[in-house]
Amino acid sequence: MHPDIERAVAILRRGGVVAFPTETVYGLGADASNPAAVRRVFEIKGRPLDHPVIVHLADAGQLGDWAAEVSPVAERLALALWPGPLTLVVPRRPHVPDAVTGGRDTVGLRVPDQPLAHELLTAFGGGVAAPSANRFGRVSPTTADHVRRDLGDDVELVLDGGPCTVGVESTIVDCTGAVPVILRPGGVPAERLDAVLGHRVERHATGPSRAPGMLPSHYAPACAVELLAAAELPARARELRRAGRRVRELVIGTDLAAEARTLYDRLRQADHDGVEVLLVVPPPDEGLGAAINDRLRKAAAPR
Ligand code: TXA
Ligand code: MG
Repeated sequence: MHPDIERAVAILRRGGVVAFPTETVYGLGADASNPAAVRRVFEIKGRPLDHPVIVHLADAGQLGDWAAEVSPVAERLALALWPGPLTLVVPRRPHVPDAVTGGRDTVGLRVPDQPLAHELLTAFGGGVAAPSANRFGRVSPTTADHVRRDLGDDVELVLDGGPCTVGVESTIVDCTGAVPVILRPGGVPAERLDAVLGHRVERHATGPSRAPGMLPSHYAPACAVELLAAAELPARARELRRAGRRVRELVIGTDLAAEARTLYDRLRQADHDGVEVLLVVPPPDEGLGAAINDRLRKAAAPR
């Protein structure tokens, strides 16, 4: 067992907060059955209390501990894609705290595909409620160092699992309605969900009441972000540089897995290097491109 796991479990059991790696981004975790512990996570993040958090489980066998009802669609997705970067929104069991669900009658569940996360969740035994381990509205952390720099002494222990292998958050699928709906594009491409279910899954979030916390401006670095077509890039860069602005150009390439893995580190790096305007040429909206574009649009949204 990793030497920090025992300590992490002890912290969770006494209602404390632990940062841990997942394959998507680092999470800021607390015992999902302890409302006070979950509230502490919200406090550290500076996040509004009515935003629901995802409950992380060691394996799909625990689904029934948290879901009041598992539809055939939810079961199919869980079987095919867990462990993995997929969150299923399902009807919650009555014991799931309001602090976790934001008072809703649903709960978001996910089995991460990361060895340290799996060790932690297995040793802890229960569900771990965890949002991304960044301050509210900022870029999600994909290394233990990102977490330490963001949250400093506010978090007792950061489990270091190295850089995240996916690099963007999980795909969230609402399985509570007549048809499944993608609330947030993420690490599992929509095309993969279509293939598993044998039909086209609805792509659009159905509004802020269904997916609270999905604000227009989010995942944002301190620098300004502008999205533009490749053909517009040289002229815009020249114009800004002539005006004395510190500009960086970022063209998203065709290896989308690699681009997703490094996206958040590049946004952070731009801030670190004192960039004022980051000019980004986005990828086509296919495969992981949909998640990359969603995050880029939010990073570029007016604040
Ligand atoms: O990859 C991920 O999903 C990462 C890692 C740590 O697992 N977590 C993550 O958590 O991105 P967070 O809190 O930053 O974003 C989770 C989103 C929230 O914005 C919320 O809207 C949605 O999940 N969510 C959670 N439970 C929900 C529910 N019951 N109904 C609708 N949306 C829900
Ligand atoms: Mg987040």
